[in-house]
Amino acid sequence: MNIHVSASANARSVADASSGFARDAIAALSQSPKKLSPKYFYDAAGSELFEQITALPEYYPTRVELSILRDRAHDIRAFIPQGAALVEFGAGSTTKVRLLLDVCDFAAYVPVDISGDFLNAQAVALRRDFPALDVHPVTADFTAPFALPEAVRDLPKVGFFPGSTLGNFEPHEASAFLRTARDILGEGGQMLLGVDLEKDERVLSAAYNDAAGVTAKFNLNVLARMNRELKGNFDLECFKHRAIYNRERHRIEMHLIARKAQTVRVMGHTFTFRAGESIHTECSYKYSIARFRALAAGSGWRTQASWTDKAGMFSVHALVAEK
Ligand code: AVJ
Repeated sequence: MNIHVSASANARSVADASSGFARDAIAALSQSPKKLSPKYFYDAAGSELFEQITALPEYYPTRVELSILRDRAHDIRAFIPQGAALVEFGAGSTTKVRLLLDVCDFAAYVPVDISGDFLNAQAVALRRDFPALDVHPVTADFTAPFALPEAVRDLPKVGFFPGSTLGNFEPHEASAFLRTARDILGEGGQMLLGVDLEKDERVLSAAYNDAAGVTAKFNLNVLARMNRELKGNFDLECFKHRAIYNRERHRIEMHLIARKAQTVRVMGHTFTFRAGESIHTECSYKYSIARFRALAAGSGWRTQASWTDKAGMFSVHALVAEK
């Protein structure tokens, strides 16, 4: 199969054996069952496909979260102290943060993301549209402790973690993240967090198995990315996308299933697949309000308010750091 290589992927150098992606991919494919971190979905092509997912009719989370943020603008404004620094963990599209910046009087915005180029492009656009706002991007892996810029040290701090990205973490990792965020934001810290809710299995399944096949492309792109960056030779025609709801564990699982027995090479290593064998590429955990609040409480946060849409599809929580 001929794999389309985007201009930005061309510009990126091929990984050496010591890069994080190379090491993790080799480990992922050596395990049984094979399992890769969902963070590798988001190269330039994957980020573009994710943007397309957020516009799909079946994929409700982005739309519903935005509607909650809009409908609760008044409550959010009351929750947020004047002149605070808004610290966003991970920086995707700026639609949600713009909504908060329009409604509340933030003095500073600190987007934290591993991709510096992307962050800086966003910072330029936000400085232009919000001239009174101090924008201080931080290039860091937000799942590990990092230092906030000196300039926001004395401001009240509000963390922002939208999109149910928390759902990508295993429950113990989600708890560790919340503790780290508590330490970074410090005493008096607050947080706004978007979390997808448990619901009818058919609705969940449709959201991750869209009719247009965009989620399938998004999932398969991680194989294309290994081909581009890790000298891989995956034939994308020989794998299929599958997303299932695991009810006992409250999570959507995405898999790439080998359509036939095959051998694949990545970074000079050989990996064999049985027919029907899976690479588990993502977990997307769903919470009830009560289970989320218990997780937050066990991780140093008191939930001051939990907002949902009328249909109870998605939730946004207002958290206050415990002393
Ligand atoms: C960005 C992790 C919230 O789990 O719904 C969308 C990623 N995967 N469709 C999600 C995703 C497949 C998304 N998160």
